[in-house]
Amino acid sequence: MATATLTPLTLDSYVELSEPELEARIARAKAHLGRRLVILGHHYQRDEVVKFADYRGDSLRLSQLAASRAEAEFIVFCGVHFMAESADILSSEHQKVILPDLNAGCSMADMAAIEEVEVAWQELTRTTTAPIVPVTYINSTAAIKAFVGRNAGAVCTSSNARKIMEWALGRGEKGLFLPDEHLGRNTAYALGVPLERMAVWDPHEERGGLSEEQIHDAKVILWKGHCSVHQRFLPEHAEAARKKFPGIRVIAHPECRFDVCQAADELGSTEFIIKRVTESPPGSKWAVGTEIHLVNRLAKECADKMVVSLEDCGCLCSTMFRISPQHLCWTLENLVAGNIVNRVSVDAETKRWARTALERMLQI
Ligand code: 13P
Ligand code: SF4
Repeated sequence: MATATLTPLTLDSYVELSEPELEARIARAKAHLGRRLVILGHHYQRDEVVKFADYRGDSLRLSQLAASRAEAEFIVFCGVHFMAESADILSSEHQKVILPDLNAGCSMADMAAIEEVEVAWQELTRTTTAPIVPVTYINSTAAIKAFVGRNAGAVCTSSNARKIMEWALGRGEKGLFLPDEHLGRNTAYALGVPLERMAVWDPHEERGGLSEEQIHDAKVILWKGHCSVHQRFLPEHAEAARKKFPGIRVIAHPECRFDVCQAADELGSTEFIIKRVTESPPGSKWAVGTEIHLVNRLAKECADKMVVSLEDCGCLCSTMFRISPQHLCWTLENLVAGNIVNRVSVDAETKRWARTALERMLQI
């Protein structure tokens, strides 16, 4: 193999390569690294990137897969920052997790800063003596996961949120759900908690914008955070889809707003949506309320069904989209050259407590 073709360029130079050149370079670097490398691709990733992934999946499944591939020294995570952190938390000492573009964050995870959560916790535990169990969605920073681990709580994913919230409410008198207001509300409501017993903590308001009475009365305190992609779906989109395509089923991710989830026929994680649509009989019609790359791929892979986005313009996760084939190529060619670029590494203390919260979830 000609090593000259594997010499990394400056990041900016990769945009000048044609698509076939870029693809050939990625494939060559991947082959060169062999079993030392595993590439993970989230379901929301674009086709030009996900085609190089050894595994495709949701955030939790990918982190678990990374941990189970002990021979892989490099885990290149084509996803967003919190996913790469989770992979680092669950993987072994010798494994290095790399995010091809460090700017690929998650707007929801960014809505709960650890300093804000610490303040909220102090205020809440000062206001009420009722035991509160914190639960954080996996879409949160490692620092938030560690906070939850230290305070006897657990992490949840969109597929096990119900089970974890049930566990939390069985242990404490109240639950604090971070950082997604909508997933928290949808899950608590499905468990029978009335909307009047849920309060929203706004970190930008004094004492979360809540009175003492509201805190005392709340069964579940929801952090005011959301996904800017899923928040764009509206209940009228479900109505319009049903009018346009009679017999269509609406399936949405539980990060969507409460009224959208109420209007949907089915709710579930990315894995659930894929399974449900794929396994439905030929001729089935689906309006899907989640990120557009997943929807488009499903439509392509399930040509015997009709699959459309719940919203006409399609909702794109722009941070996930930052992971480009150019960034992937630059990352891999640097690894071949012995340079580890864009490593995501969680400090030991944070890792210990975040792992506790993740393991608690796996035990439940
Ligand atoms: P999943 O864990 O269902 O893949 O969702 C991840 C995510 O970021 C949804 O917006
Ligand atoms: Fe974050 Fe929303 Fe993108 Fe998922 S879709 S990674 S929650 S910004």
